[in-house]
Amino acid sequence: MRSKGVAVWLTGLSGSGKTTIAKKAETKLIQRGQPVQRLDGDVVRARLTKDLGFSQADRFTQVERVTYVAELLTYHGIIVLASLISPYRELRAYARHHIPSFVEVYVRCPLEECAKRDVKGLYARAFQGEIPHFTGVSDPYEEPENPELILDTQWETVDESVEKLLRYLERQGYIS
Ligand code: PPS
Ligand code: MG
Repeated sequence: MRSKGVAVWLTGLSGSGKTTIAKKAETKLIQRGQPVQRLDGDVVRARLTKDLGFSQADRFTQVERVTYVAELLTYHGIIVLASLISPYRELRAYARHHIPSFVEVYVRCPLEECAKRDVKGLYARAFQGEIPHFTGVSDPYEEPENPELILDTQWETVDESVEKLLRYLERQGYIS
C-alpha cells in the first residue's frame, strides 16, 4: 500500500548518527517499495543553501527552507528523512507547525561519545577553537523535550535504531 507522507525529523549532535540511520532507513524503505527522500543537512548545505553558515539566524533559515521542501514532498505522499542538527527547540517547533505529519526523532548520543567518534575530525578542531559556533562545544544544542522517538546510539546498533524507527512508522500507520 502506498505510504502517507510524513517527515521524519532526525535531530541530534554532529556525529550522533543522524545521517547513518537515515541512509539505512532509506534503503529499507525503498526495499519495501516506499517513496522516500532524504534531506541531509550536509547535502542541503552543499547544494541548496550554500549561502548559509552556522549563526543562529542561518540555522533558522536552513530549517525554514528544508521545512518548505519537506512540506511539498510529504504533500505528495513521500516519506522524508530530514537529518539536521536543528539545535533549537523553536526550530523544530517551526518545522512541526508547518509539516502536517511530523515525527521528531531524537538521535541521542552524549557529547563525549560524539567527540570520541569524531568521524569528520570536526570536534578536535572545535575544541582547539578553530570552528566557531560548533554545536555542543561553542554553540547550544537544546535537547528535545517531547520527541516521538528517542534512538540511543551510544547503546543501540544502527540496525536496532533503524528497526525501532520503522516499527514506529508501522504502528502509526505511515507505512504498512
Ligand atoms: S543545522 O544546525 O540544522 O543548521 O545544521 P545542519 O544543516 O544539519 O548541518 C550540520 C553539519 O554541518 C557540519 N558543520 C557543523 N555542524 C555544527 N556546527 C558547526 N559549526 C558546523 N560546521 C560544520 C557538520 O558536518 C554537520 O553534519 P553532521 O551530520 O550533523 O555531523
Ligand atoms: Mg550527518
